Amino acid sequence: MRMIELSLFNPAQTYGNIKQFDCGHPVINSFVRNSLKSQVKKNLSVAYVITDRRQNHRFVGFYTITQYTIDVSALSALSLGSLPRSVPCSRLVMLGVDKHYKGLQLGTKLMRHALLLTQSVARQIGSFGLYLDADPLAIGFYQKLGFRLLQDDQSPEPSPMFIPVESIGMG
Ligand SMILES: CC(C)(COP(=O)(O)OP(=O)(O)OC[C@H]1O[C@@H](n2cnc3c(N)ncnc32)[C@H](O)[C@@H]1OP(=O)(O)O)[C@@H](O)C(=O)NCCC(=O)NCCS
Repeated sequence: MRMIELSLFNPAQTYGNIKQFDCGHPVINSFVRNSLKSQVKKNLSVAYVITDRRQNHRFVGFYTITQYTIDVSALSALSLGSLPRSVPCSRLVMLGVDKHYKGLQLGTKLMRHALLLTQSVARQIGSFGLYLDADPLAIGFYQKLGFRLLQDDQSPEPSPMFIPVESIGMG
């Protein structure tokens, strides 16, 4: 029986199995093992983690989020009305769920948390929405949550996607 918990990642804390974390994506796995703690310690981003308390607080999923500005031209496909040249927003940088815990709605739980956090940041310091660069295999997952591709047909890899804060909660 799993005891899943979502909490703020604490770089001073020891998480079970963090060195064995495997979401099937080598870049994200290597980030967790080698860079996550130092990046959070330097306040370059904040991370939220899902742990399984029944498995010695096993590190089973996470996301990182940070501040970002996006050039208004990058949002042209979404026709979001008049905006300043540099649009303040939030950026989801990394997301991953360990392959032993996939398909349990944990990825969705993490993303819902990131979307609510973006709403709260918007109320506190201003944020026009949440931006991310999607791995081609994950585009469908983000579209289910209301994200839209910024360059539809000739989308590069990874693919820029965005959800305006006004659309959060409308998915
Ligand atoms: C993408 C990822 C975070 C999804 O996590 P997860 O916990 O397995 O996903 P969930 O259980 O919350 O899935 C929610 C829904 O999205 C669907 N889904 C999951 N991954 C999907 C994908 N890659 N493409 C399309 N749909 C997807 C599921 O089928 C499920 O559909 P349902 O609600 O109709 O049952 C996880 O597969 C992962 O870590 N992938 C490797 C790392 C990665 O690609 N990260 C993102 C890089 S941009």
